[in-house]
Amino acid sequence: MVLRSLVFVLALGGAAPVCAQDTNHTRLLASNCANCHGTDGRSQGGMPSLSGMAKPYIVQQMQEFKAGKRTATIMHQISKGYTDAEIDALAAYFSSLKN
Ligand code: HEC
Repeated sequence: MVLRSLVFVLALGGAAPVCAQDTNHTRLLASNCANCHGTDGRSQGGMPSLSGMAKPYIVQQMQEFKAGKRTATIMHQISKGYTDAEIDALAAYFSSLKN
């Protein structure tokens, strides 16, 4: 039974090299935001917290940074490093956390 699950996980991993839906992958992506926005998006001040922020708001801001519609000092660069699926996964992750 254990072996069967393992094979299943391995098969899934092989089938989806870019798996934005995968929680560990999302947490890895989210750790890139921690330097500025705090661990798990909980800001220590001076920067907006991402934890508990509404998902549609995060997606919209990231897309606007990416498209250059919202002026930014740094986020226009950072947002360009993520696909739409990754932005969606990041937004779902941060919005699910308590601030
Ligand atoms: C190098 C520091 C830095 C990193 C890393 C960083 N941010 Fe930001 N973030 C900022 C700054 C600064 C702002 C304010 C806008 C600006 O000047 O770029 C901001 C603004 C935002 C906003 C808008 C907040 C609001 O209140 O409207 C969102 C959403 C956001 N960041 C998401 C992210 C996500 C998601 C990541 C990780 C993928 C991330 N940021 C990584 C510095 C950073």
